[in-house]
Amino acid sequence: MKILAIESSCDETAVAIVEDGRHIITNQIYSQIAIHKKFGGVVPEIASRNHVDKLPFVLDNALDDAGMTLADIDAFAVTRGPGLIGALLVGVSAAKAMAYAADKPLIPVHHIEGHIAANYLEHPELTPPFLCLVVSGGHTNLVHVKDYTQYDILGSTYDDAAGEAYDKVARVLGFPYPGGPQIDAAAKTGNPDAFDFPRALSEKDNDDFSFSGLKSAVLNTINAKKMKGEAYRKEDIAASFQRAVIDVLVEKTMHCAKRLGLTKIAMAGGVSANEGLRRAMASAADKAGAALYYPSPILCTDNAAMIGAMAFYDYQTGKIAGLDLAADPSLAIGES
Ligand code: KG4
Ligand code: ZN
Repeated sequence: MKILAIESSCDETAVAIVEDGRHIITNQIYSQIAIHKKFGGVVPEIASRNHVDKLPFVLDNALDDAGMTLADIDAFAVTRGPGLIGALLVGVSAAKAMAYAADKPLIPVHHIEGHIAANYLEHPELTPPFLCLVVSGGHTNLVHVKDYTQYDILGSTYDDAAGEAYDKVARVLGFPYPGGPQIDAAAKTGNPDAFDFPRALSEKDNDDFSFSGLKSAVLNTINAKKMKGEAYRKEDIAASFQRAVIDVLVEKTMHCAKRLGLTKIAMAGGVSANEGLRRAMASAADKAGAALYYPSPILCTDNAAMIGAMAFYDYQTGKIAGLDLAADPSLAIGES
């Protein structure tokens, strides 16, 4: 089954064609990062307008690259939410139009379920049940993936998502948007023990997260240094901040996996591209005798291949939308 999928929930205009949920035929991404960079973050109205401008070209590129026409497509999938409402509407409207014109099913997909499904594209051996740490710009969750479309949310963030904390700290350090990869790179030459930043909610059996205290501690440290005229290395701040984030993510994930007796652990979302996190989680999983899975960096950040992968499993359970499908900016996981 060949599914053409569209992702437009934030600042990536993406179209992919995926076969049977596991095989990428084409994966086209137009990133708007260069456009939003000068504003220090995504401007929703500008994102929507650029989706309208670029989507027809990205779509043509995908069909050209695959050597296909719309007649070769068996179903159309689209991110229904969560995300920026104006941005989501562009993808939803396009998918509806194509499904109607080609008279093929329309499959609505949850963005975070898509991030989790990105793991299926490169790990044919990965099947549920497994534990997934979802860490993106908008979400931080520990999810028990009981089956392809059945989830238990074990933990969530009370405040900032992990990626959001990365982006805010990066901005104060003077790094361009998006800050996650910049901090990851700076941390490599920094001392992770230079500053002792807080690890929130670290008590046993608490699967939730909180990153706003950590973010404030970093900002206060930088401001205090500036006020006293003391020099500091950005690399040391980056490395100490990253160590605090990773310590919490790894400890909670491993604790959860042990409690549930899960020996397969996956990671998903933009922050799972973080090299420090990958290394630390791999070492912890290895010690615990668990298998660790994560997608290539290009499939960690927003893309449409992950939506095409998830759509295949949604379709098996009869999740098909009518032409009255509405985008839902705050769609809950398991409800697409
Ligand atoms: O999954 P994603 O592309 O979009 C959302 O659904 O939010 O994630 C984007 C987030 C941004 O906050 C970005 O700074 C972060 O992922 N990110 C990283 C890295 N690459 C992207 N954070 C830490 N280290 C990275 N290497
Ligand atoms: Zn995302």
